[in-house]
Amino acid sequence: MFTGKLAVLYEGQGDNAIFQQLAERLAVPLRNTTQADTLSELFFLCWRDGCLKLLDRELLKKGGLSVDIAPRNGEQHSYPAPKQGALAQAVGRKTKTVIDATTGWGQDSLFMFRMGYQVSCIERSPIMAELLTDGFNRLAQQDWVQRLQLSMPPLHTGNAIDLLTSLTTPPDCIYLDPMFPPKRKKSALAKKAMVILRDLLGDDTDKDQLFSVALQAAGKRVVVKSPDDAEPLGGKPSESFSGKLLRYDVYLKG
Ligand SMILES: C[S@@+](CC[C@H](N)C(=O)[O-])C[C@H]1O[C@@H](n2cnc3c(N)ncnc32)[C@H](O)[C@@H]1O
Repeated sequence: MFTGKLAVLYEGQGDNAIFQQLAERLAVPLRNTTQADTLSELFFLCWRDGCLKLLDRELLKKGGLSVDIAPRNGEQHSYPAPKQGALAQAVGRKTKTVIDATTGWGQDSLFMFRMGYQVSCIERSPIMAELLTDGFNRLAQQDWVQRLQLSMPPLHTGNAIDLLTSLTTPPDCIYLDPMFPPKRKKSALAKKAMVILRDLLGDDTDKDQLFSVALQAAGKRVVVKSPDDAEPLGGKPSESFSGKLLRYDVYLKG
């Protein structure tokens, strides 16, 4: 699936076996930094600074992107954080259970988790699922999480279009943040993390189908995050809340 595009990179530190296992799970080659000059892949996964990181060729020399488990700037550091801001308004203060059907880097899921929502995650890219699993494992080790005995959001790897169809208990809210084709110039586009995600996975061209399935499967509402200049995914929403360069469209069920 990712042959020629992605490799796992062993940089000579730690147990080689876990790199090998990761490469086998994703069915991609395991490369070594001694082959640095001959690496032909565009993306790499490796553990750096105790985190599983995704690198493109620009990040190969240093850095890398991992699931960020730290609270956002200005977010209260005790649990649960207040349900404030456009995302909480859209998801609803009375909402308890949320399925994030497009988890990606997990930033919205983790924001909702820290606000005390009961979040379950779906992600179809096995690469992102590996990065999320690493992030959730790191979060589970945090003092505050252990002290409060919080369980990590369950992560289901697969296509939400299939997984939402076979739900037995509808969640109060289904949250969607698929990739929209960029309209703005690159400079105005999102952070590196979203740029690399698009480069790696491309646009989510089946988002209309995902929306219809989500609307069927949700108990009370579907929330769609989109760029503020994009057409609403499901037609006229019941209500909308605006954030910086983005919009949360809410579709309430009758
Ligand atoms: C824009 S990113 C989401 C970013 C995320 N909200 C965050 O805070 O990091 C979109 C993600 O949704 C995933 N995705 C899109 N359609 C999906 C589907 N039908 N089933 C499961 N995952 C899907 C993509 O693989 C991608 O990782």
